Amino acid sequence: MITLGIETSCDETAVAILENKKILSNVLYSQIREHSKYGGVVPEIASRKHIEKIGYIFEEAVATSQINIEDIDTVAVTKGPGLVGSLLVGVNFAKGIAFALKKPLYEINHIEGHILSVLLENNIDFPFVSLVASGGHTHIFLVKGLGQYELLGKTLDDAAGEAFDKVAKMLQLGYPGGPILEKLAMQGKPVVKFPKSFMVKGNLNFSFSGIKTSVMNFINKNKNSVSVEDICCSFQKTVGDTFVYKIREAVKITKINTITFSGGVACNRYLRKRISEFAMENSLRFFSPSPEYCSDNAAMIALAGFLKNLKEPLEYPFDFTVNAVPRLKLC
Ligand code: KG4
Ligand code: ZN
Repeated sequence: MITLGIETSCDETAVAILENKKILSNVLYSQIREHSKYGGVVPEIASRKHIEKIGYIFEEAVATSQINIEDIDTVAVTKGPGLVGSLLVGVNFAKGIAFALKKPLYEINHIEGHILSVLLENNIDFPFVSLVASGGHTHIFLVKGLGQYELLGKTLDDAAGEAFDKVAKMLQLGYPGGPILEKLAMQGKPVVKFPKSFMVKGNLNFSFSGIKTSVMNFINKNKNSVSVEDICCSFQKTVGDTFVYKIREAVKITKINTITFSGGVACNRYLRKRISEFAMENSLRFFSPSPEYCSDNAAMIALAGFLKNLKEPLEYPFDFTVNAVPRLKLC
């Protein structure tokens, strides 16, 4: 079974090809350079870059995987959530390929892709508790099976990745802030105590805007008295404490002993280590994808399509009215 996956929900133009679960190619064009001078993603620029790049990225994915286009059995594409102009490029490209090859088309929720990305490199039995943290989302799910997701908690304001990016911006570290902040944090000490939100038993929601504001107030009041490295380290520790607390609560409530961590923020080695240590101390199994499958990629979208096809095969013709849904809900 050859599955083509296409992901263009934000600023990464990504195409992957899987043979069953095996990744034959996973190609990506990151638009970081185009957006960095604006300090964030500019939606119109993102859509236009996807249009320019997707054909080349598709060609490269086909060439790398050493298949012929006609070998593709099924197509999977991110339908939402994301930037509408960006999503439309991928959805329309995927429809074109599926239409030309007369193959089924699977519409995938981007967050479902992040949840399932842990299965790319590991065989994990359902159920498991999944923390997905990215630039747009921070959610904890109870994953009961494929397509069976129960939302246990989510951020009520900023996503964790957004908080990393905004704090990095305040400190003028550059864009995207998450990875730069992590590097500086490694050289600092957690000397500042930033407040943590919703640290209440049984509450699995998050809030990161309070931490962000207190970092801003701290910077304004304490210019030069604490190093940038120490501020980064203190902020990162606050996020780590929050994640561990929420996962502990989720495990207590669900009594599930497998936990996963995915999404762009899961690239962060300190946060992975914190959750992994918590898992070890409590005899839980812990899985997190390799960094290239944590941040946006098409392999996770192809995998979701492949697994759905195994469970409930669709046939051609697909629904030709398939469209992008920028605020698509998972559950
Ligand atoms: O999953 P992703 O690639 O795109 C979205 O779906 O949003 O996540 C991107 C987010 C950005 O906010 C980025 O700063 C954050 O993930 N990120 C990190 C790290 N690497 C990426 N945050 C903290 N530490 C990192 N090393
Ligand atoms: Zn994402």
